[in-house]
Amino acid sequence: MTRHLLTLFDLSGDEINRLLARARWLKAERLAGRRHLPLAGKALAMIFEKPSTRTRVSFEVAMYQLGGHALYLSAEGSQLGRGETYADTARVLSRMVDGIMVRTFEQDRIAALAAAATVPVINGLTDLSHPCQILADLVTVMEERGTLEGCRICYVGDGNNVCNSWIEAAVQLGFTLAVATPPGFEPAAVLRERIARDGHRHIMLGDDPRVAVAGSHVVNTDTWVSMGQEGEDLERKRAVFAPFQVNRRLMQHAAPDAIVLHCLPAHRGEEITDEVMDGPQSRVFDQAENRLHAQKALLEMLLG
Ligand code: CP
Ligand code: NVA
Repeated sequence: MTRHLLTLFDLSGDEINRLLARARWLKAERLAGRRHLPLAGKALAMIFEKPSTRTRVSFEVAMYQLGGHALYLSAEGSQLGRGETYADTARVLSRMVDGIMVRTFEQDRIAALAAAATVPVINGLTDLSHPCQILADLVTVMEERGTLEGCRICYVGDGNNVCNSWIEAAVQLGFTLAVATPPGFEPAAVLRERIARDGHRHIMLGDDPRVAVAGSHVVNTDTWVSMGQEGEDLERKRAVFAPFQVNRRLMQHAAPDAIVLHCLPAHRGEEITDEVMDGPQSRVFDQAENRLHAQKALLEMLLG
């Protein structure tokens, strides 16, 4: 059966742990100047229906460094923009490439593509989930702390795709996760229901940023306006989200050795201040680099 990565629920906890270790090994190998070309002769199609800097560059460079090739397809520049179905697109691409990465809107779109594909489909961000991001984030946490044992991670801000994937990771790996989102901007209902149903007491959902940050070793945030939400009432949103800004005052509640993560791009002065983003606790650029290493491990696992 073809393996896909549509959310982190498609990987077991053991698989995620192995993948994180492999990513760190690949990073060290790269630094040592050693090459590994397990994907020689393989190709990855990358469909982008939303903009990207990190995801596109990291997937494209990852395929190159593993000996393969990546090709970029935009909605407008391909027949998707003229209404060719996701299923037909998947059937055609499956005849020519060894994997398909997709960045799109509703989860249904990537699900339709995966249902018809006979090669692995990888979620490069949907409205629901951003699993590749959280794999890189976990690599960054492991580099910092060596283990997730005893680690308290928090997420403060919009209950969006990044927040949802942190919850997916906490379900699969069992670490302590505290989430604070404003009322009306909670994580996806499907995840809230799952936490309630399965009694994941190590995952705490609330609306008080100071409570979530208290004693945390890793403080995460993300934009208040995700791609596709640009038309919403921004002024109202900014007022609602103001107490959720990751600034020096909020960071005083975190563990003294806490690190700060942001998937980027940041809206400096909104969800995070310059002072924190450029300060000693920030690991945001290591985190961005780790997209490359995490994706290499993932591509090896799915396409190798
Ligand atoms: N973090 C992230 O996915 O960045 P891009 O939108 O630049 O790909
Ligand atoms: N939540 C953001 C993440 C960007 C990488 C968005 O969906 O726009």
